Amino acid sequence: MSAGGDFVLAMTGASGAPYAVALLRQLVGSGRRVHLTISPSGAQVLREEMGIDVSLSQFDHRVFGFPEGCAILYHHHADFSAGIASGSFRTAGMVVAPCSMSTLAAIAHGFTTNLISRAADVHLKERRKLILVPRETPLSLVHLENMAAVTRAGAIVLPAMPGWYHRPQTLDDVVQFIVARICDQLGLENTLVPRWGDGAEPRVEESNR
Ligand SMILES: Cc1cc2nc3c(=O)[nH]c(=O)nc-3n(C[C@H](O)[C@H](O)[C@H](O)COP(=O)(O)O)c2cc1C
Repeated sequence: MSAGGDFVLAMTGASGAPYAVALLRQLVGSGRRVHLTISPSGAQVLREEMGIDVSLSQFDHRVFGFPEGCAILYHHHADFSAGIASGSFRTAGMVVAPCSMSTLAAIAHGFTTNLISRAADVHLKERRKLILVPRETPLSLVHLENMAAVTRAGAIVLPAMPGWYHRPQTLDDVVQFIVARICDQLGLENTLVPRWGDGAEPRVEESNR
């Protein structure tokens, strides 16, 4: 295990692949090992939204711009023999980003049909940090109840819901807002976006007071 513990990142088939790729960069940049797994729908969304053509059976780090030998340990979504499928394998936490409503439902009900829902189930049972980054709109009662269920079980629901108070200028600013919130939850130091209260907040015009 690398210093501070390994992270697990699962990408599933909700819209928002740029959040996942930016988070992967940040996690790898932290010097920790990252266990990466991607659902088939997650791969489809990566292709649709970013033109990233990832092969799930012959994964190559270079599709994300990382060199050979970087700290990404890839696991196929059907590989239940991966370390992260077991509670005895120690990690520093898991993020599912983006998290589809389907994967959210599987986690909420302990229905472990692939490595992603199994690893998430393991994080819940071991009382480790599990951060879900769901994206859907509008939300049905089923979605909301599943979010409540995972929250009761100990997960953190961190919707891909960027704030605007830091006045983002680019799409990357919007993406980094969510990545920063995830890193905060993982306890990873970051200065990705200015923090409210650190003197970086925009001045409120006198006439608006
Ligand atoms: C381009 C694209 C965008 C999608 N966006 C969403 C979404 O935002 N939220 C969601 O819950 N499902 C979305 N879906 C549907 C899921 O991918 C689908 O329910 C799938 O079964 C999820 O499987 P997974 O959880 O194993 O990745 C999208 C599918 C595609 C192809």
